[in-house]
Amino acid sequence: GLPARVRIHEVGARDGLQNEKATVPTEVKAEFIRRLADAGLTTIEATSFVHPKWVPQLADAEQLFPQVSDLSVDLPVLVPNERGLDRALALGARRVAVFASATESFAKANLNRTVDEALAMFEPVVARAKADGVHVRGYLSMCFGDPWEGPVPAAQVVRVCTALLDLGCDELSLGDTIGVATPGQVTALLTALSAEGVPTEALGVHFHDTYGQALANTLAALQYGVSTVDASAGGLGGCPYAKSATGNLATEDLVWMLHGLGIDTGVDLGRLVATSEWMADRLGRPSPSRTVRALSHK
Ligand code: HMG
Ligand code: MG
Repeated sequence: GLPARVRIHEVGARDGLQNEKATVPTEVKAEFIRRLADAGLTTIEATSFVHPKWVPQLADAEQLFPQVSDLSVDLPVLVPNERGLDRALALGARRVAVFASATESFAKANLNRTVDEALAMFEPVVARAKADGVHVRGYLSMCFGDPWEGPVPAAQVVRVCTALLDLGCDELSLGDTIGVATPGQVTALLTALSAEGVPTEALGVHFHDTYGQALANTLAALQYGVSTVDASAGGLGGCPYAKSATGNLATEDLVWMLHGLGIDTGVDLGRLVATSEWMADRLGRPSPSRTVRALSHK
């Protein structure tokens, strides 16, 4: 059966804006996050404390976070290493995310490390965060296909998921970074993870929509019992270190499907669409979300 309620992990301000060519002013990012909270989203990934040269679009994390930290929503931030964790903790962040890769090629491209070197880098990050009572999400990229390596064997994904849980991550997010997965693969991977003892309750899904499969893949995951879904308002997004990655599943498309299925999200779809239209104006290009376009006021 389907879950009664789905927790949407909104990534537009991080995964979306990290991939925009234009630099979005800090004040616009802050207003975007405020509007997302106002639309009823309760988990809003705010920014990343990564090396500013690697992701210049999010180099204003120190300025942005204090502008939104008064909001009564969860504001997770990405931290690749202890330096990132120090920066996040100094500003009072209570939720952090490390980000691993199921493939060597992407670990190298995204973190300048092998898969195991990256896990070693995360070990003290997770340990220190947990000791401080900070919630830790572990992302896992390239769970289905990799632009350099092609299809990714489930065993590789299982190994890194298990390692992230062993480090102490509270939840995992399975990333289809380049949006190539189809629903049968989603069910097969969830089955493989569950067979190896990974609890489905600890899993979220993170689908990019490159091939238009994100919503179908999400439904497959929901049918398997997953109830945390990552999405980005208006379908913003991508990853600067993975060629052929486009935007995430649009939050509006997800909400339309979930509400149609009678699944509660707490999101006001009208307000969310208005927010994405507002952001599209700031970015100077229309949202790719079908639901945003269908409900557009223009
Ligand atoms: P590196 O070059 O190996 O860094 O990069 P290093 O550890 O050798 O350090 C070099 C210098 O960087 C040092 O300074 C550090 O202090 C500094 P120096 O001593 O030379 O003056 N440094 C930092 N400065 C500020 N903040 C930091 C930091 N760390 C080191 N946190 C590193 C390694 C991990 C830093 C780099 O590769 C990096 O920042 N990568 C981030 C890439 C990224 O953000 N990618 C996008 C997010 S992942 C994603 O989008 C996928 C996801 O959506 C899921 C999916 O779709 O699959 C999550
Ligand atoms: Mg992503």
